[in-house]
Amino acid sequence: MIVPVCSGKNWQFLADNKPVIDSGRSKAIWLQNADNPEELGLFKCRDKTAPSTEVYSLGMERVAYVLGDALGFPVPPGVHLEEFGGEPGVISCQISNSVSWREFESRKLSHEGIVNLAQVPEYIAFDIWLANMDRSPRNILLRAVPPTLEVAKADQFSFCLIDHGFSGLWPVAKLGNDPNEPVSFVCVGDGTTVKETLIREAMPPSYWQLFAGINDKVRAKVLERIKSVDDELIGAAIDDVPDGYMTKRERILTADFLKKRRDNVDALSHALL
Ligand SMILES: Nc1ncnc2c1ncn2[C@@H]1O[C@H](COP(=O)(O)OP(=O)(O)O)[C@@H](O)[C@H]1O
Ligand SMILES: [Mg+2]
Repeated sequence: MIVPVCSGKNWQFLADNKPVIDSGRSKAIWLQNADNPEELGLFKCRDKTAPSTEVYSLGMERVAYVLGDALGFPVPPGVHLEEFGGEPGVISCQISNSVSWREFESRKLSHEGIVNLAQVPEYIAFDIWLANMDRSPRNILLRAVPPTLEVAKADQFSFCLIDHGFSGLWPVAKLGNDPNEPVSFVCVGDGTTVKETLIREAMPPSYWQLFAGINDKVRAKVLERIKSVDDELIGAAIDDVPDGYMTKRERILTADFLKKRRDNVDALSHALL
């Protein structure tokens, strides 16, 4: 179920807020819902020194959430775009009882216990579609099954996907677009550009190999999922982003980007994997 773009929740700083492990380029702090202390969310905003166009990336987190949730993919239980402490940011609702793929691998836990391993090719096709260049081991979580169980007590896990900030037309230069003129024209990529290889290279090999190993029949079925997303859903996901996170022009170009890459997802994925 897609949650509203603005949570309407009474977020406050989480007491004893520990620095976020594995934080990337954004500023990140954990918040707690004062009316429901069990509920945590990671608030990310852009560093004051970062160009204002970087908020596009926060907007893309919501777009990816709406599209991912509609496809039934394991995105966070909610992704909101709202201000906290006077700064516009994104709140990613916590996937509790989870560890990163990096930690999972370093603990040498068995892949056999991962219940949605067979769906990974679909998740990879999703990243290829969105041109997500940041599916690093930090941005893949393994959640205990059932999710109420502590990680240490679990022997089954399910993959969850977080952090879609490097998707769509962000960073601006990634497909040869002009960084000085944000989202100035749209090169949507054809899977063969040097930068697009980063979509694969960011992923742990043990992850992308799950796509590379499938046969043509399964691949066709996997890509069909992406191709099933209609223009209306793409439009709704982008329209949902509040003003201030995306300009009118960025919205039009992002819709065009997503539609063209969806229609070309066979060629894109063949070029990359
Ligand atoms: N929804 C979530 N549930 C659990 N942990 C999360 C969630 N979102 C982020 N995290 C944790 O916070 C870290 C930083 O968040 P992320 O969205 O990846 O930000 P960045 O853009 O800084 O990389 C992640 O690597 C992960 O450890
Ligand atoms: Mg990250």
